[in-house]
Amino acid sequence: MSLSNRHLLGLSGVPKEDLQLILDTARTFREVLERPIKKVPTLQGKTVVNLFYEDSTRTRISFELAQKRLSADTINFSTSTSSVKKGETFKDTVRNIEAMKVDMIVVRHKSAGVPQYLTKISKANIINAGDGLHEHPTQGLLDMYSINERLGRLEGLKVCIVGDVAHSRVALSNIYGLKTMGAQVSVCGPSTMIPFGIEALGIKVYHKIEEALKENDVLNVIRIQLERDAGRRIPSLREYHNYFGVTTERIEKFNKDIVILHPGPINRGVELSSEVADGPYQVILDQVTNGVAVRMAVLYLLGTMHS
Ligand code: CP
Repeated sequence: MSLSNRHLLGLSGVPKEDLQLILDTARTFREVLERPIKKVPTLQGKTVVNLFYEDSTRTRISFELAQKRLSADTINFSTSTSSVKKGETFKDTVRNIEAMKVDMIVVRHKSAGVPQYLTKISKANIINAGDGLHEHPTQGLLDMYSINERLGRLEGLKVCIVGDVAHSRVALSNIYGLKTMGAQVSVCGPSTMIPFGIEALGIKVYHKIEEALKENDVLNVIRIQLERDAGRRIPSLREYHNYFGVTTERIEKFNKDIVILHPGPINRGVELSSEVADGPYQVILDQVTNGVAVRMAVLYLLGTMHS
């Protein structure tokens, strides 16, 4: 069994069989993470570069750990300590790194389309670790894995993405992936944060958090992205929290069976109360653990196609 594409650029257009293969393979690696020795020799001899042009905690560490767990050689690149600061172009940087014989490139960049561009200038397998407002496919996959782990299925589930959907690559990857797997996807937020015309994709739109809570099995709560100008789309963070914040009081009034996801980093007291962020309804740290297994699966499936 192998994937139908040698790159993972997004979840848009990825066939159900490929998504299922990644999720099934991740389950195997999730078991490896519970062993006393959490390492397999699967990618021994392969070299992977983590090319991060934008800040990250979870994704960068998770990819690096996944590569080490698979016994690959790992190189970490960050702009702040590189010759990008001396004016070297993106293309020259990539070509120089590739000349050192790397097999796979994991890339995060503030511009949408950079992973696609990399496939034109590099022979390596390319994995998108988040490109601008476009997609964050491994986050979408780990969210799907975590929902399935908690509820035992994706098909037929009602999943609502809450918050700054317009600025969210996580939202888009969730929408594409979950719809392919047969879930019913909706979004909730102020109209300034919901992309115009999203209903045409078969997505229900809520403007009241109480209704979203009442009618869904899962809320995937997205961060208000202040670094991407989200602050201009709402009167204040306090007002956002008053109308859309997910609180224990709201959960207990409207849906005690709800499962809460958040990709991190969390704005505590804005999209989620601290009580919810640390409480019994959320699976936030499970998402982080599962992220390592999902990234191991993607690296393994792409890395073994390359040889
Ligand atoms: N969820 C996520 O992408 O987090 P980081 O920005 O810390 O990688």
